[in-house]
Amino acid sequence: MFKKKKGLILSLTVASSILLATGCSSSTSGSDSGKGKDGDLPAVGATIYKFDDNFMSYVRRAMDTAAKGKVNLMLNDSQNDQSKQIEQVDTLIAKGAKSLAINLVDPKAAQTIIDKAKPKSIPVIFFNKEPDASVLKGYDKAYYVGTTSSESGVLQGELIAKAWEANKDKYDKNKDGKIQYVLLKGEPGHPDAEARTKFAISTVKEKGIDVEELAMDTGMWDATKATEKMDAWLAKYNDKIEFVIANNDGMALGAIASLEKAGYFTGDKFMPVVGVDAIPEALEMIEKGKMVGSVLNDAKNQGKATIDLAANAAKSKDVLDGTEWKLDDSKAVRVPYIIVTKDNIQVGRDAYK
Ligand code: GAL
Ligand code: CA
Repeated sequence: MFKKKKGLILSLTVASSILLATGCSSSTSGSDSGKGKDGDLPAVGATIYKFDDNFMSYVRRAMDTAAKGKVNLMLNDSQNDQSKQIEQVDTLIAKGAKSLAINLVDPKAAQTIIDKAKPKSIPVIFFNKEPDASVLKGYDKAYYVGTTSSESGVLQGELIAKAWEANKDKYDKNKDGKIQYVLLKGEPGHPDAEARTKFAISTVKEKGIDVEELAMDTGMWDATKATEKMDAWLAKYNDKIEFVIANNDGMALGAIASLEKAGYFTGDKFMPVVGVDAIPEALEMIEKGKMVGSVLNDAKNQGKATIDLAANAAKSKDVLDGTEWKLDDSKAVRVPYIIVTKDNIQVGRDAYK
């Protein structure tokens, strides 16, 4: 199931590269005037840091759905290349984008994007990778749509602590009362990766549970990289590992693939694994008992909020006009996270419908 999905995402990436190569990156049809063909829809220029990212593929789908009949969405795959993304922004502006929705490759590149948009007074809605607050402050037409990164870490920590307390007999293999864990972090410097690592562990400790880190690796949000890491960790630590903490579901699924190869999840051989995102492939694993739980990262609402704000901005309206979203002090819309286990799995299903 997961493999199939990846194949699909890969072929979409190829298709979009072809579109890019022919100069048409629009997911509806763009024109140089910046107007859509159906009823003069305002043009919104958008970039996703890479289409081949499990979670972002769902955000992208939500953006496409929300854009239908509302804006002419010109959506680009930045292929994990910041300089490519900057060129795409130049092209989008040249094509007449009335607002920009940007999922940065490198969170530190926000100022470079603003420097291109600000002289032309083009509003910028950053999403998913949060820029520094000071950068957003420097341009009155810059906003952020995402989450409160620390919240996902705290919830992940609560999920780990609860599962540990309920299953200590089974999970604490060496009976020392401590969790010997390995951690797959995600992209270094990414606010979500940093905050999840910090707050997941601090929350577990605050609950009075001792921990010992056996190993940590970036894994770069990527399933294949996570499988390779987990293979190596199992070879090195084997039975010493008592918990796998993955900062997203893509990496949790990759770790599970490795664990399955090593004979886990059959008979008595078990390993608790947690993730973040609650994407459908992870919900399946939770259902099967191969994953303890995840933390819902609401792709649908983040995609929708991004388009709602970008559409209003493109029409020179107040970004919140006619929407249910709220901005906090740092001009950010923050969609809440929710713990998802087998008990409330429907919450995850509904969010990814
Ligand atoms: C996170 C998400 C990850 C990955 C990342 C990309 O919010 O949990 O799975 O998609 O964003 O920036
Ligand atoms: Ca232990």
